[in-house]
Amino acid sequence: MTNLLDVEHLKQYFPIRTGFAKTTPLKAVDDISFSIRHGETLGLVGESGCGKTTVGRSVLRLYEPTDGKVYFEGTEITRSNIKSMRRQMQMVFQDPYSSLNPRMTVEDIIGEPLDVHRMYSNSKERREKILNLMELVGLNAEHATRYAHEFSGGQRQRIGIARALAVNPKFIVCDEPVSALDVSIQAQVINMFEELQDKLGVAYLFIAHDLLVVRHISNRIAVMYLGHMVELADSDELMDHPIHPYTESLLSAVPIPDPETARHKQRIVLEGDVPSPLNMPTGCPFRTRCRYATAKCAEEMPDFTDRGNGHFVACHVK
Ligand SMILES: Nc1ncnc2c1ncn2[C@@H]1O[C@H](COP(=O)(O)OP(=O)(O)O)[C@@H](O)[C@H]1O
Ligand code: SF4
Ligand SMILES: [Mg+2]
Repeated sequence: MTNLLDVEHLKQYFPIRTGFAKTTPLKAVDDISFSIRHGETLGLVGESGCGKTTVGRSVLRLYEPTDGKVYFEGTEITRSNIKSMRRQMQMVFQDPYSSLNPRMTVEDIIGEPLDVHRMYSNSKERREKILNLMELVGLNAEHATRYAHEFSGGQRQRIGIARALAVNPKFIVCDEPVSALDVSIQAQVINMFEELQDKLGVAYLFIAHDLLVVRHISNRIAVMYLGHMVELADSDELMDHPIHPYTESLLSAVPIPDPETARHKQRIVLEGDVPSPLNMPTGCPFRTRCRYATAKCAEEMPDFTDRGNGHFVACHVK
């Protein structure tokens, strides 16, 4: 069976003015390849600014990629066919406070994609679809005529999900959908994403800066650093047997509930700041902060290779 999504050598450079009549390319995403299977969740993690949102937006063609190819069910997405594919691919945004128009009713927010894609034959059917979607995400039917600004963050994110689901997509980019929510409701919203996936078979690219957030929902997890993918593996494999030094440091910061295990664990504190994407280090992008770096790391970019069972790593040493 073909994959739902295949991303090959995706690059997204933004031209940044760096002087009079001079621009420098900011390499937000630099040569990234991965696939997502039907109904799968791929978690995408990394520090703020490493390029996660840009990956999501470029895959959905909200940006025209600088280079690389994206295939949806085996068909290459192009400027000319993206319109017909758009319905299959949706996005849920990080900030439910700014991504929903506060002056629109819930009914109109969820109904908008139905209108755009003409997905009903009369107003009764439109209303039925909206109420079904509201039920699906655990919103009360009486809330249909209320305005987005009247809802809490968690409820707004439910509205955002109902809106994304309205057009029966096969794939949703979930861009840090719980980062702006109180910790107490994050788990509820993540569980809802999982339940919806079980019911509908939709696949997710689930973005977060925190490994703990994506751990349970993801079948596989990819780790990004400075525009590059440095490691990709099944979730348990990545959490239990990380290989890349950057993943190792991310995991060392994850709190462990068992004090006995925690005592044996050493926290790795990375030195220095993330380099500017306008001024990337030569060779391995992580080398300025890597405790294993050798001379080769400054000279050559490590390949992203399969170390067995689909566990991909980009590192010369590990
Ligand atoms: N539209 C844009 N124009 C210029 N630079 C951008 C744009 N979008 C993102 N960037 C830059 O690209 C890099 C990656 O950003 P982003 O994808 O938002 O990272 P993340 O989602 O991981 O926080 C950052 O350095 C950011 O400043
Ligand atoms: S290639 Fe070198 S610098 Fe990069 S992560 Fe591996 S050891 Fe560290
Ligand atoms: Mg982001």
